[in-house]
Amino acid sequence: MPAHRVLTGITTTGTLHLGNYVGAVRPCIIASREPAVESFFFMADYHALIKCDEPDRIEASRLQIAATWIAAGLDTERAVFYRQSDIPEIPELTWLLTCVTSKGQMNRAHAYKGAVDANLAAGEDADAGITMGLYSYPILMAADILMFNAHRVPVGKDQVQHIEMARDVAQRFNHLFGRGQDFFVLPEAQVDAEMELLPGLDGRKMSKSYDNVIPLFEGGAKALKDAIARIVTDSKLPGEPKEPEGQALVTIFDAFATPEQRTTFRTELRAGLAWGEAKQRLFDLIDGEIGPMRARYETLMAHPEDIEQILQAGAAKARAIAAPLLAQLREAVGLRRFQPLKTAVAEAPKAKAAVPVFKQYRETDGQFYFKLSANDGRVLLQSQAFAGGRDAGQWVHKLKTEGAAALSVAPVTLGDGVAAGEVAEALAALIAADQA
Ligand code: TRP
Repeated sequence: MPAHRVLTGITTTGTLHLGNYVGAVRPCIIASREPAVESFFFMADYHALIKCDEPDRIEASRLQIAATWIAAGLDTERAVFYRQSDIPEIPELTWLLTCVTSKGQMNRAHAYKGAVDANLAAGEDADAGITMGLYSYPILMAADILMFNAHRVPVGKDQVQHIEMARDVAQRFNHLFGRGQDFFVLPEAQVDAEMELLPGLDGRKMSKSYDNVIPLFEGGAKALKDAIARIVTDSKLPGEPKEPEGQALVTIFDAFATPEQRTTFRTELRAGLAWGEAKQRLFDLIDGEIGPMRARYETLMAHPEDIEQILQAGAAKARAIAAPLLAQLREAVGLRRFQPLKTAVAEAPKAKAAVPVFKQYRETDGQFYFKLSANDGRVLLQSQAFAGGRDAGQWVHKLKTEGAAALSVAPVTLGDGVAAGEVAEALAALIAADQA
């Protein structure tokens, strides 16, 4: 049983800000020190090409983001740290997955749907300006994750749908080609409140699109100080008591402070500490943590060849895992070395048509469930939770014997994009197969 694998990627289209550091880089680095965890962090530079056609910007961003992770303390001996584009197995896997991904499911991806909606609202053609890269974005992301059989994927809320799509495609591939063996682990999204938490200068979530970010290393200590000076506060004067809760300044302070420092800061604000003073304290606190990192960052940026070497070593480690799995997958789909064909296989009539299957299982919540999967792995029916396995079993039995007639009373929902007619047919096929 391999160690628990955690994997995440950062799209390389810009530089990281303080919110990215608090929300992603720092927690990932801390988690990567846990003894039972194997971490995979990578620059999603193929994903960057989807959003950006400026080569110099792509070049700069992947270097800056790599330097940021190293400067922030990532142990690159322990974690597997690489550029997506250094792993040719990833685009190859992307194609194998593309061939088992339904177009309908990609039509429902939020990023694509959002772009279509914006086009329609502007009176444009639905697909105006939309590339196949954007359309297939979730499949490339699924390949990133499945290539390394990651168990857990820390991401922001907006990425959860992509992880679900990765699970779906993994399931379909396992089902179609696995012959009882699962090639892929089904990954789980991990969404920490922390990842969403850091407010920007104006109190809204810190984000480039709101133009309210505090830079991490770019511009040095001066840029940090200038940004902090622009954090919006109320207009209470020095000496006036201030209510700390709900102030962006205080929330940002908390992200770097010990519990004692948090209490002291609040007490001082309530006693009338001037906002100017408070900002100085915030600067000192943040700079105390990231100042030494910034120095390392600057040294690294002056020696890109050192970073190059680290990433080449990372790519070698990653490929040592990716290549054997991909070889297995090629074999499984029939891309094999030429050999005399087994006549039995070449001429045998096609095996009896695969029928849909019911599966009963228990989730980590302790409840019992069942689902009906089509022979291509799609979920046709999903049950509600049952306290006991017997209840689930009785419903499965009813559906298996009564077919579509039991459908309207059974505590089930149809799978994503599945029509009731298809389920009725599937149940009929199941009953026919049982009787054969
Ligand atoms: N799409 C992710 C984002 O924009 C980046 C990413 C690419 C990623 N591949 C991944 C994240 C695989 C997790 C796992 O944030």
